[in-house]
Amino acid sequence: MTDDILTFSSEKRQGILSKSSLPVDTEPEILSLRPSILSEYIGQPDTVETLKIAIEAAKLRKEPIDHVLLHGPPGLGKTTLAHIIASEMEGELTVTSGPTMEKGGDLIGILTNLSEGDILFVDEIHRLPKVVEEFLYPAMEDFAVDFVFDKGIHARSHKYRLKRFTLVGATTRVGLLSSPLRDRFGIFRSLDFYNVQDLVKIVIRSASLLELTIDEKSASELARRSRGTPRIINRLLKRVRDYAQVRGDGTIRPSTVKAALVLEGVDEKGLTNLDRNYIKTIIDYYNGGPVGIEAIAATLQEETDTLVDVVEPFLLKVGLITRTSSGRKASQKAYKHLGLKTG
Ligand code: ADE
Repeated sequence: MTDDILTFSSEKRQGILSKSSLPVDTEPEILSLRPSILSEYIGQPDTVETLKIAIEAAKLRKEPIDHVLLHGPPGLGKTTLAHIIASEMEGELTVTSGPTMEKGGDLIGILTNLSEGDILFVDEIHRLPKVVEEFLYPAMEDFAVDFVFDKGIHARSHKYRLKRFTLVGATTRVGLLSSPLRDRFGIFRSLDFYNVQDLVKIVIRSASLLELTIDEKSASELARRSRGTPRIINRLLKRVRDYAQVRGDGTIRPSTVKAALVLEGVDEKGLTNLDRNYIKTIIDYYNGGPVGIEAIAATLQEETDTLVDVVEPFLLKVGLITRTSSGRKASQKAYKHLGLKTG
């Protein structure tokens, strides 16, 4: 199980990430565009302020910071913030995820290897099996784990003391977290989609790290088409860079952005083929809704989780769909965006 775990000190972080099966979130190139200190972090002002205060207070008291739960759609910065917390607290970061832990022993192995002030990042924490989750309760609350030896009448338990660490949990579905787990986090923040101004700042910063020049107009064109998501704007910036190099003279202009994004299937609102197919399914097959998510997933032949975690949050945010007690509905705005008459 230790193969699934990446441990690296904050200073040496970038060099050590050389495993072939890295999750998307920890790809070295994406990591290099990520800010490594809070003062460089753009957007999410309330979350940044909460963390600044918690970090400064913990440092003054020479204690680890409280456990942190970060909630929000993929690509908004949950993993980035875990890296930042580790580097600001000068602790080592261990990265793992809910579904990779199957038995209580998997977690105990990780916990007993943590040093004072280390950060344990558990991505997709809502997918932690119940048996593993139960080991987390005493670990989070008392910095101890209970080992049980033997079974039945011979069963004996031994309390093993852990070093004081900080758990940073990330989830796209806070509703799936049990309340005993949720309640053990001292800090809970939901990350929201970024506004265009913040995305412009992010893409200008990324362009400068990639040694590219980008004018304001091109930057805002990219920002408007990035579904409010830093990971998407950074990915699209690289596609635009390629396009400008191969089909143009290397300069990024609004026309280059538009042409490169047509090729990516990204429209003026930033919707992808999957987003548009999702809306078209509701309109064409279910008369605009309301329709249950399982029916949409079956028609589209997509995973329900992908639709709920990745597709729907942004469509809800921009008002292209609504969620009612009887299912999902396409809004007037959705018909208009797709150039269709209201049903
Ligand atoms: N790169 C990705 N996300 C970022 C953020 N929130 N601030 C600055 N740079 C970023």
